[in-house]
Amino acid sequence: MMTLTESAAAALVQLTERNKAMDEMLKSIESLIDLSVHPLSNLANLSAYIRFTLPDINWCGFYFLQGEALQLGPFCGLPACITIPLGRGVCGSAAAADKTICVPDVNRFPGHIACDANSRSELVIPVHLDGKVVGVMDIDSSVPDRFHEAEMELLTKAAARIECSLATNRVIFAI
Ligand code: SME
Repeated sequence: MMTLTESAAAALVQLTERNKAMDEMLKSIESLIDLSVHPLSNLANLSAYIRFTLPDINWCGFYFLQGEALQLGPFCGLPACITIPLGRGVCGSAAAADKTICVPDVNRFPGHIACDANSRSELVIPVHLDGKVVGVMDIDSSVPDRFHEAEMELLTKAAARIECSLATNRVIFAI
């Protein structure tokens, strides 16, 4: 059995490794998102990158505001619900409050909308254009309590990079 000091040291190594992995992922995301192209390409590529690179992620994608509801945008994962009214589910709540919502256990979030029965925890980050919420980035995990400070920091920076892409080319909002 490990002593207290040994387990503290092991936890520190694990944390350092995780932070290193997050730094590497951020560098990859920065080079993946190309500000010279249509944002749809960046939204699609980022969804796939996160879905397949961050461990235990079963769904990653975007919803964008169309009037009073969020509408499904590019994603990577199982087919999902197309329309989410503002204020409903984790996505609609995050967009209405303009707040990141981290849900360690989706079964304990009142009104959670289950698109993939495998999802156990979820993180939703609002996406802005000109300081206003225009959508959300939604990341689901099959593991409970999957999202911690390191993941939230990485994914918030990824969403910020998407905001730069949207601000550089606004074609997506002309529909
Ligand atoms: N769970 C979300 C719905 C979207 S899916 O997870 C892809 C929600 O409660 O808003």
